[in-house]
Amino acid sequence: MKVRLNKFLSEAGVASRRKAEKLILEGKVKVNGEVVTNLATKVDPQKDIVEVEGRVVKPQRKRYIILNKPCCYLTQLGSSPDGRKTIQELIKDIPERVFPVGRLDYNTEGLLILTNDGDLANRILHPRYKLSKVYLALVEGKVSMNTLKKMRKGIELEDGFAKPDDIRIVRYEGKDTLLEITFHEGRKHIVKRFLGSFGHKVKRLKRIAIGPIKLGKLSPGKWRDLNKGELALLFKAVGLKPPYR
Ligand code: URA
Repeated sequence: MKVRLNKFLSEAGVASRRKAEKLILEGKVKVNGEVVTNLATKVDPQKDIVEVEGRVVKPQRKRYIILNKPCCYLTQLGSSPDGRKTIQELIKDIPERVFPVGRLDYNTEGLLILTNDGDLANRILHPRYKLSKVYLALVEGKVSMNTLKKMRKGIELEDGFAKPDDIRIVRYEGKDTLLEITFHEGRKHIVKRFLGSFGHKVKRLKRIAIGPIKLGKLSPGKWRDLNKGELALLFKAVGLKPPYR
């Protein structure tokens, strides 16, 4: 299948799509021996030979990884200007340029999907595909049945209405309550803001599933590749054909 040249270059880890466009415009990219400067150029990654400044660019293998992000890591690649740890440290042994699909807050733990497959990433994040994100939230105070009912009906937040797809009490822990809450949208701090607006501050938050992908027993700070079965379910959930059969 043919893809835009800048997309091919970014997926091969050469540069971001924007920077790849710059390289093309600067005449630094050749396709089958010819310099191309047309940004609309498409290439077949299996057949065409692409060179950047004289070096042949190999298409990257697609990687699909899950990471159990521990507390106190920023969801970003590279280092942070304020010296806080980033998830880069946890995935430094992965040669492909995988990037996180969405974000977890600095102090949120749990399931993060990382991939170099931009199409899949876009669909996981797009509300149209309603991929559910399931969280365990330990909140201050005892959530009453009455409050739980109100939570199920949803509430107006400062940036619009929010209603979980599902919410249940897992158990009471001393003076606190452990809730399982599911949203398919990804507004910033949605779980903390939603529960906080009912007077229940979130003390600990962990994502345990994204659509059909479950965190399972993966230890904090560890990552693994998704297996074929998981990929088939994930691709199906967002209306794409799986990459492997
Ligand atoms: N909702 C939050 O409040 N924080 C997260 O990290 C994810 C969802």
